[in-house]
Amino acid sequence: MCGIVGYVGAKRNIPEILLEGLKRLEYRGYDSAGLAIGLDSGMEILKSPGKVKELDRKLKAGWTQDKFKNAKVGIAHTRWATHGPPNEVNAHPHSDSKNRIALVHNGIIDNYSELKARLSSIGIKFKSETDTEVLANLISECYEGDLCSAVAAALKQVTGTYGIAVIAKDQPDKIVVARKGSPIVIGVGDDEAFVASDISPLLPYTKRVIYLDDNDITVLSRSGIDLRNMDNVPVTREIAHIDWDANAAEKDGREHFMLKEIEEQPLAISNTMRGRMDHNLVTAKLDGLNLTPRDIAGVSRIVIAACGTSLHAGMVGEYYFEDLTSTPVEVEQAAEFRYRNPILDRDTLVIAISQSGETADTLAAIREAKQKGALVASICNVVGSTIARETGRGVYLHAGPEIGVASTKAFTCQVATLLMMALKFGRAGRLSRSAGQKIISELEKLPDLVRQVLDSSDKIARIAKKYSSAKDFFYIGRGYLYPVALEGALKLKEISYIHAEGYHAAELKHGPIALLDENVPVLALANNIPGKDKVIGNIQECRARKSPVIATATFGDKDILKHADDVMEIPECSDFVTPIPTVVALQLFAYYVARERGCPIDQPRNLAKSVTVE
Ligand code: M6R
Repeated sequence: MCGIVGYVGAKRNIPEILLEGLKRLEYRGYDSAGLAIGLDSGMEILKSPGKVKELDRKLKAGWTQDKFKNAKVGIAHTRWATHGPPNEVNAHPHSDSKNRIALVHNGIIDNYSELKARLSSIGIKFKSETDTEVLANLISECYEGDLCSAVAAALKQVTGTYGIAVIAKDQPDKIVVARKGSPIVIGVGDDEAFVASDISPLLPYTKRVIYLDDNDITVLSRSGIDLRNMDNVPVTREIAHIDWDANAAEKDGREHFMLKEIEEQPLAISNTMRGRMDHNLVTAKLDGLNLTPRDIAGVSRIVIAACGTSLHAGMVGEYYFEDLTSTPVEVEQAAEFRYRNPILDRDTLVIAISQSGETADTLAAIREAKQKGALVASICNVVGSTIARETGRGVYLHAGPEIGVASTKAFTCQVATLLMMALKFGRAGRLSRSAGQKIISELEKLPDLVRQVLDSSDKIARIAKKYSSAKDFFYIGRGYLYPVALEGALKLKEISYIHAEGYHAAELKHGPIALLDENVPVLALANNIPGKDKVIGNIQECRARKSPVIATATFGDKDILKHADDVMEIPECSDFVTPIPTVVALQLFAYYVARERGCPIDQPRNLAKSVTVE
């Protein structure tokens, strides 16, 4: 998804800080990049399709050291195409037809066609197909020397979403930024200020940040940060201190962020659980939920809304709540939930799950739920993200930044969080102390269980190599491992580009079995959990169609070798927690298949880390 970075000040080399910032935003997924630098003599805009290194190359080709020596302001962008193909003309920054301003924009201007028609009727010519160029011209039309007022006046005519940064040719010492529905974070410095669409580009320079709220508009200059709302009324926003350091967002010597993130799961899960186990009351302390036992008793139904990997975590959560509480649970694809007519009331708790906290469909689902009067909570990783802030109550994962587009540690931390939530709800109701104790002790073993799977990664890599030329794959599982089969298949398809389908093991014979033959491997989740015998039966059905079978099985299961060609061993643990070590094996499998195939693992084609459009 698109990324923004900007700087105002005289302490740094502007092209370098912008390019460095864009590189830190690469993980979001993009298809072109550009920057604009304000100079006393005017404004330079440079854009390029493709990667940031292309922009860098282009800049250096026409760059004399002196050119930007006295520059004090710059904005830059990585674009993920929404209006018009990814090319140089459509790349940001966009300027107006009089070249007075430059603008970078995340989000979508819904009414851009009518605005464009109006601007065209007064003679304005457009170069690109983008909604952003329309906004640039609209701002320019409103500009009479006060950039902030012009931006506010233009944004009042706009419907849609935006996070923007704007500079003007005749004011090469300030940036105006604004947000509605698309995140903007300001980095607070001394005699300098930064802006970005998330904190990663800011981390090397400052740990003090301000998250803008919707309808905030702010002027950044060397002398300070002037926060206002669209009606020009000053507003105050807290300065947050970020404890992620820049290194936390780097690869730590691994070839890919994804591998680093898979390997750091023992720590990430420990961080998710840290301080949250109440051994005295045998429950989980999740204060951010802000729910008393009485509030919990009043919840008659839970709806979990999420997308992608977070949705699969929610499906595991459904099992938890149904096993540990008396509360019925439904899991909803956030995109579908929003456009149906969900029946919600004050006694329904809607739990939104989102790593980024910015997924547009999930955000729309919680807005719908709030509007219908439901109680809304979230499970997010990114602190201060829109979903976290809009729900107001929830649980942060504390998993650290997840940079690889394929979500890994967020999933395991989401599942651990859902188990803690179900424990809390269960203990407020029918769950016995001893059953609660068992869950706490299993949760506390998780980091070690994951470590044991990581220790077998050489073996998993060998199995992955053997199957890396497959064109199709099926993943099957039952019970707690059914959502894990879906998640394993999602991991394989998104990073290796192998067609992979996750199915309930029993569903295979209702259609997909027609596709099985010796070229279609089946990855069967056959750990020792209830339903294992039936999975073994399903494996036989696959083998009868000549499909090679890879199984996950509990350590020491000698019997499984009779049924599977290859085995990935998962340590002995209770059914509750088995999704977590099992999914780690599947993450490693997908990773090594993709590496074998030479795929761009951290930034798979067509995918974005944070899907902020519907
Ligand atoms: O940030 P979110 O958890 O809301 O993101 C939801 C999905 O876009 C995300 O999980 C996606 O499916 C990942 N690429 C999966 O690896």
